[in-house]
Amino acid sequence: MSDKTSNQMWGGRFAAGPDAIMEAINASIGYDQRMAAQDIAGSRAHAAMLAAQGIISDSDAEAIRKGLLTVLSEIEGGTFEFSTALEDIHMNVEARLKEIIGEPAGRLHTGRSRNDQVATDFRLWVRDQLDAAESGLLALIKELLSQAEAGADWVMPGFTHLQTAQPVTWGHHMMAYVEMFGRDLSRVRDARARMNESPLGAAALAGTGFPIDRHMTAEALGFDRPMANSLDAVSARDFALEFLSVASISAMHLSRFAEELVIWSSAQFRFVTLSDRFSTGSSIMPQKKNPDAAELIRAKIGRIFGANVALMMVMKGLPLAYSKDMQEDKEQVFDAADNWMLALAAMEGMVKDMTGNKPSLEAAASSGFSTATDLADWLVRETGLPFRDAHHVTGALVAMAERQGCDLPDLSLEDMQGVNGAITEGIFDVLTVQKSVASRMSYGGTAPEQVRAQVKRWREVLA
Ligand code: ARG
Repeated sequence: MSDKTSNQMWGGRFAAGPDAIMEAINASIGYDQRMAAQDIAGSRAHAAMLAAQGIISDSDAEAIRKGLLTVLSEIEGGTFEFSTALEDIHMNVEARLKEIIGEPAGRLHTGRSRNDQVATDFRLWVRDQLDAAESGLLALIKELLSQAEAGADWVMPGFTHLQTAQPVTWGHHMMAYVEMFGRDLSRVRDARARMNESPLGAAALAGTGFPIDRHMTAEALGFDRPMANSLDAVSARDFALEFLSVASISAMHLSRFAEELVIWSSAQFRFVTLSDRFSTGSSIMPQKKNPDAAELIRAKIGRIFGANVALMMVMKGLPLAYSKDMQEDKEQVFDAADNWMLALAAMEGMVKDMTGNKPSLEAAASSGFSTATDLADWLVRETGLPFRDAHHVTGALVAMAERQGCDLPDLSLEDMQGVNGAITEGIFDVLTVQKSVASRMSYGGTAPEQVRAQVKRWREVLA
């Protein structure tokens, strides 16, 4: 298919073909063939516009349309032979089109360049990924809502510094992730709205003298409008960087949750049982059930951050407009997108299947003097002590319980009164974890009633 001595796309200017190493460093077809469908959609829109504007004949446009459909079916059917000599998906498609339909294929590239072509293909590809991420996030959020609803009143320890802090509810913890993934969802939607403009027709960099209609191609490809500056259109990659930043933040959320699942599923915590479907065994230790999916989510996330940094580095020194450096944008984004989608799906599966271990959660909730703040608050409310002093008294009571080797509710009233004479029987009302969480009724607090209200609100938002 390729002519080694003079490239069929620009052979006129060249006497010799490229060195093998040149071909290897130059070619992107090994990966940009993933944009074949987008490339063909872009070409179809362009050809239809050229005909509508009288730039090519209707019969040429029809031949191009049919030919492109044949190329697409060859690619989808796996019979298409990709050629490294033809560098990239754009030239592979055009060369094959020429083989199929002959001369009209040569008119397709009128008023267009690979620079606006690749920018268009890549935007369409990234847009599809944003749509896939939206679905993945929505599915994950729905599973978290189910978990939150089922365990709206299960008590568990809340941590700061990974030290027991105050009791919270399982539902509240699940809803914290709903908020995070909900913001990811809104970032995905913002990014999509901002990137949905068409570079097509910017041509190489300066626009074209042909009377093209960029609004027509933009509309055909589902873009909101054509990009307003042709230099910007071919050289902008901030849409890809925004995709990677949004992906990175969401990946960071996935990784934090994955880390919690690793900790929670350990024998020391036993907060959660992951399903067999999302665990693996050990080849040597028969008792083991490992949270591999969570660990791999935690690890894969680094590739997404890496892609973000790598593309920033590619772009930061480039003068306007197109530079070949920009060809290095795709592999990073492809890999990040694949791993983000996989991580979202794996997390959704794990959350759907996991079982919170209510008795273990409850037992852990009352250990570590988790109701100490409730005790201090009671002293403020019932005895009028300033909070700082109440904090001090409570500290003394915690130290006493520690010495006696018991929990706060197990201290005797006499012992407590020895520390502060104003303490009465009523204090025992706030020392249980159930009472503690039920009292946290401030908006956004951990009380089961608040959690249920937030589940309801999210269901309405998503409906
Ligand atoms: N394969 C190229 C890329 O991905 C397409 C654009 C080539 N443009 C050029 N002027 N050489 O960036």
